[in-house]
Amino acid sequence: MKSNTRKTLDEFIIEKQEDFQYSTGELSRLLNSILLAARVVSYKVNKAGLVDITGSVGVVNVQGEEQKKLDVYANDVFIQTLVNREIVCGIASEENDNFITIQGFDNGHNNKYVVLMDPLDGSSNIDVNVSVGTVFSIYHRVSPLGSPVTMEDFLQPGINQVAAGYILYGTSTMIVYTTGKGVNGFTLNPAIGSFYLSHPNMKYPERGSIYSVNEGNYVHFPQGVKNFIKYCQEEKDDRPYSSRYIGSLVSDCHRNLIKGGIFFYPPTTKAPKGKLRLLYECNPMAFITEQAGGIATDGFKRTLEIQPTELHERTAFYCGNSDMVKKMMESIEKAGDGNTARE
Ligand code: AHG
Ligand code: MN
Ligand code: MN
Repeated sequence: MKSNTRKTLDEFIIEKQEDFQYSTGELSRLLNSILLAARVVSYKVNKAGLVDITGSVGVVNVQGEEQKKLDVYANDVFIQTLVNREIVCGIASEENDNFITIQGFDNGHNNKYVVLMDPLDGSSNIDVNVSVGTVFSIYHRVSPLGSPVTMEDFLQPGINQVAAGYILYGTSTMIVYTTGKGVNGFTLNPAIGSFYLSHPNMKYPERGSIYSVNEGNYVHFPQGVKNFIKYCQEEKDDRPYSSRYIGSLVSDCHRNLIKGGIFFYPPTTKAPKGKLRLLYECNPMAFITEQAGGIATDGFKRTLEIQPTELHERTAFYCGNSDMVKKMMESIEKAGDGNTARE
């Protein structure tokens, strides 16, 4: 099919709006605002190397991680785009210590959605021209309309997500998202500025054959995880599996969703709760994974059912093809030490 005859994301969003009972169009407008910010960031990412956007700003964020210029830029673009449109009542970002409260000029605190996001995922890859991403997650507020948002609006388990998605700034720019009715992917035609439906109804392949992990941490992994890695490397049946690790969650999970595989960031002795952030990275990725027929877990429990207790909370994360994630969980259970990483 010629790309300009495909359905655009704008058309798709309007069509799907009817799926939401009592919909006022607020979610559609919110998704459109995210897309607008994504186009701005995509444009900048594409010029990295030519404009002053690579490297660090010399500041560490609340997570103790060095902020890159593009972290700060993407964070500002997404927040300003949403704030200026008065389309959400609150935003929490990986790059900000606290959540932001937004009061609409005309309607007080009457917007019903909050957004949580990782504005720039995989930022260590930007300086070397490797794919990075954005991850977002949308919830209905639980506090009453008309009042400022509260912490409990953000500390909701992932099963409450209304929509979630990621933008991948790769060889092309894509958005992949779900509203709980399957997963669809759209590719940006940069000349026109429109996203076209390129990956309808995305599903994991029946069997996975890729494992993605930072194996440099191997000695610090729990025994069950080590055993799973050895199983992947074994010369038996359809194994050994391929090892692929880009180092940006969005890119690694996107590849595994299309080709079939497992991504994992286990607990280590250095980081007993793993590295990835439950609210900004794991929950949105878990929602997409489940909607595409995969599994996302902390090794014991469905990621989407974890009750968060703080904004920047981290969790162990295993996600991808159900055959591979099940095998990993069996291995963790058998070794009996999945939550306590060994020296
Ligand atoms: P961020 O750039 O938002 O801080 O996220 C980086 C994350 C994630 O994208 C990736 O999967 C992981 O960190 C890589 O960590 P290691 O470098 O420890 O492998
Ligand atoms: Mn990230
Ligand atoms: Mn980030």
